[in-house]
Amino acid sequence: MPKKKYKYIDLFAGIGGFHQAMDALGGKCVFACDIDEDCRKTYEVNYGLKPAGDITKIDAHDIPEHDVLCAGFPCQAFSKAGKRLGFDDETKGTLFFDICRILEYHKPKYALLENVRNLASHDHGNTWRVIHDRLEKLGYNLLSEPVIFSPHYIGIPQHRERVYIMCVRKDIGEVAPFEFDKRKIKPCSIEDILQNDSDIPNIEEYRVPKEMEQLIDLWNEFLQNIKVDKLPGFPIWTDRLCELNKNEDLSQYPSWKQNFIHKNNELYRNNKKFIDKWLVRAKKNPLFFGAKAKLEWQAGNVDIPNIWNQIFQLRPSGIRVKMNSFFPALVAIVQTSIIGSRRRYLTPRECARLQSFPDTFKYDIKQAQAYKQFGNAVNVDCVKIFAKHLLK
Ligand SMILES: C[S@@+](CC[C@H](N)C(=O)[O-])C[C@H]1O[C@@H](n2cnc3c(N)ncnc32)[C@H](O)[C@@H]1O
Repeated sequence: MPKKKYKYIDLFAGIGGFHQAMDALGGKCVFACDIDEDCRKTYEVNYGLKPAGDITKIDAHDIPEHDVLCAGFPCQAFSKAGKRLGFDDETKGTLFFDICRILEYHKPKYALLENVRNLASHDHGNTWRVIHDRLEKLGYNLLSEPVIFSPHYIGIPQHRERVYIMCVRKDIGEVAPFEFDKRKIKPCSIEDILQNDSDIPNIEEYRVPKEMEQLIDLWNEFLQNIKVDKLPGFPIWTDRLCELNKNEDLSQYPSWKQNFIHKNNELYRNNKKFIDKWLVRAKKNPLFFGAKAKLEWQAGNVDIPNIWNQIFQLRPSGIRVKMNSFFPALVAIVQTSIIGSRRRYLTPRECARLQSFPDTFKYDIKQAQAYKQFGNAVNVDCVKIFAKHLLK
């Protein structure tokens, strides 16, 4: 780690996950940009630096000199025509192209990039190949495979596997192989990031509404009364808890869907008496329709299933119940997790903690924006690990 302050730039800066980490390691941010105005406001409030806007409109010449380029960029498919027709740059028209353009102009010593896990396999590996080859061509050493890492590997209760790409300018050195022994992963506890309910000023806003509570109680009753060897690992679709309709041609559906229909039907046939009665009562709950009439139990096989002991989310595919050891990845769209034991949603402060932002961080006062911004952010402690590894 350089003793003197090093300068870095924060592209696609969001609310500054990189900024938090790089500053903590002695860096000074000399430039940031993000196209989203709300993110820019949050960034300025917290760091006293006003980010520029759309990267595609920014001339590399207008960006100050820096030692490290940081970027958590959107994953986009690259042009196949590039390869086929011999274009010298397959990245044109993508935001990765803008990163390359800045690297080419400034030639900083290091670059640290982050992306979704899918980047490693996106477009049958073509996306990673293009990124790797392009960075190499620009004069950087990098590992041949992207490193996949998640906060839950280091005790932070969020499952968020992301790809980290560390680059060192060729005249400076190599990137040391990154070793992480997954067998050493310790169990996480969601309690580590939860606020005391008594410390949440507007707690009522986060509580599960009464009708939703009743709906969850209904689902608990269902799970606790069906006779099964193992709790269903397939999604329970209540509109399929019935006799098969002989006039319906199931072959019109893809095979995975046919399989789930048959499994639901089997569950029904083995529990017909209970389910018929339960369905009559369930249908009286005004929330029992669409996604809320479906359940995905992903919390393992327990003796007495109880959704209130787990974490759950309302997803378009149904109510998804997960084990309560860590949260699923925060996402930009609003599908905020519910902490069963607290009968409430995660608060924005808890989302900040899941992304390892300090409690002094001032999040957007518009709640939907705050959730979105944390859902888009990079985990600060994960960035620290890769920045240390890269700059050591
Ligand atoms: C995955 S998020 C990165 C979040 C950031 N690393 C953080 O910790 O908050 C991607 C960001 O890219 C921004 N973005 C998308 N297109 C952009 C563009 N053309 N110019 C600048 N920023 C852009 C989005 O607004 C979003 O905030």
